[in-house]
Amino acid sequence: MLVTYAEIDGFRNLSGVSFEPDPKYNIISGQNAQGKTNLLEAVWIMSGCKSFRSSKEKDYINLSGSRMSVGIKVRDSIREQKIQIEMTKGVNSTKNIFLNGVRQKGTKALFDVFKCIVFIPDDVEIIKGSPEKRRNFIDMAASQLNPVSVSHINRHNTIMNHRNALLKEIMNGHAKAESLEIWDRQAASEGAFISYMRNNYVRQINEICSRLYCTLSGGTEKLELEYKSSVYKPEDFEKPPDGNAADIYFRKLQESSGYDIRTGSTHTGVNRDEILIKINGLNVREYGSQGQVKSTALVMKLAQAEIFRKKSDDSPVIFLDDVMGELDENRQKFIFDIIRDMQVFITTCNESALLPEIKGKIIRIDGGKIVED
Ligand SMILES: Nc1ncnc2c1ncn2[C@@H]1O[C@H](COP(=O)(O)OP(=O)(O)O)[C@@H](O)[C@H]1O
Ligand SMILES: [Mg+2]
Repeated sequence: MLVTYAEIDGFRNLSGVSFEPDPKYNIISGQNAQGKTNLLEAVWIMSGCKSFRSSKEKDYINLSGSRMSVGIKVRDSIREQKIQIEMTKGVNSTKNIFLNGVRQKGTKALFDVFKCIVFIPDDVEIIKGSPEKRRNFIDMAASQLNPVSVSHINRHNTIMNHRNALLKEIMNGHAKAESLEIWDRQAASEGAFISYMRNNYVRQINEICSRLYCTLSGGTEKLELEYKSSVYKPEDFEKPPDGNAADIYFRKLQESSGYDIRTGSTHTGVNRDEILIKINGLNVREYGSQGQVKSTALVMKLAQAEIFRKKSDDSPVIFLDDVMGELDENRQKFIFDIIRDMQVFITTCNESALLPEIKGKIIRIDGGKIVED
């Protein structure tokens, strides 16, 4: 898919920005703190995803302004659609979202319309951070292939909030232990779905990651990803999920309920899963060098793009924020070989550090505005 038009006004420091991106490479160039990442972020949030910067939505609006609006046109193999998000500062500054001019209740519909993958220096957190970071990465990537998954994940989160609140009530003697059962039944049904989804995605991404990493390391290193479910054994995943899968999950929850009640939180289920990432058999999180960690994060994102392209008629749009500058020529070539058919937005403060073959539209940003040469 392609972004064919973008206009941004009042989003952070950007004002009056509008442009027609190149169908291939777009180089967003400028000095530090001029608004390059802001531009990527503005386009990114049109995918319905949360910002890749850990920031609050109210910060989207320019500090000295009162309103922001971002609009893009996205073309896929079927049609061109228009997405707009507007926010006005105020006590309840909610987002107004429009798809083809029709007001939307939430961001859910956008998720299906505009799919993109962002590469940021912070991606190393997928490797180095808590297990939650790895689970979120897998959940997001798998949901891009099958948007229904989002509802399962959201429902599971809601059920867990109820279950954990109930655990505390039981602990304090305000509720009976038996009342857990109805939540555990529901958690089991959603949890079984999520576990099988994760297992399936990790299997796919493992295959591609190990091939890509092998190439990147000149054949000397083997990268492996392995899904460690807190409920299922690897052999449980050998057959497709049936009613029995939810029963196994339910029994696990019930087994741990005594301990859960004493501690007031849930100790088994998809919220306790881990995705192990190993190079030559050693956990990268603990033993990886800085270079290995960076390369692993890069390869995982590239594998996400490759899986997506294989499964869908449309390639995702690629955002590269501040990652090209630090990479040597070989690594840059490696990336561009994989994303060569996709539309790409690259930020850089040094155009000359980019591979000479990356030619495209240059969008120069200075003080939150596009400047002409
Ligand atoms: N809500 C906001 N209102 C006004 N300026 C903002 C807001 N949020 C961030 N900025 C400004 O945006 C600039 C950073 O832009 P950014 O896109 O990160 O720069 P870079 O070009 O280095 O990627 C900073 O000067 C920052 O103060
Ligand atoms: Mg930046």
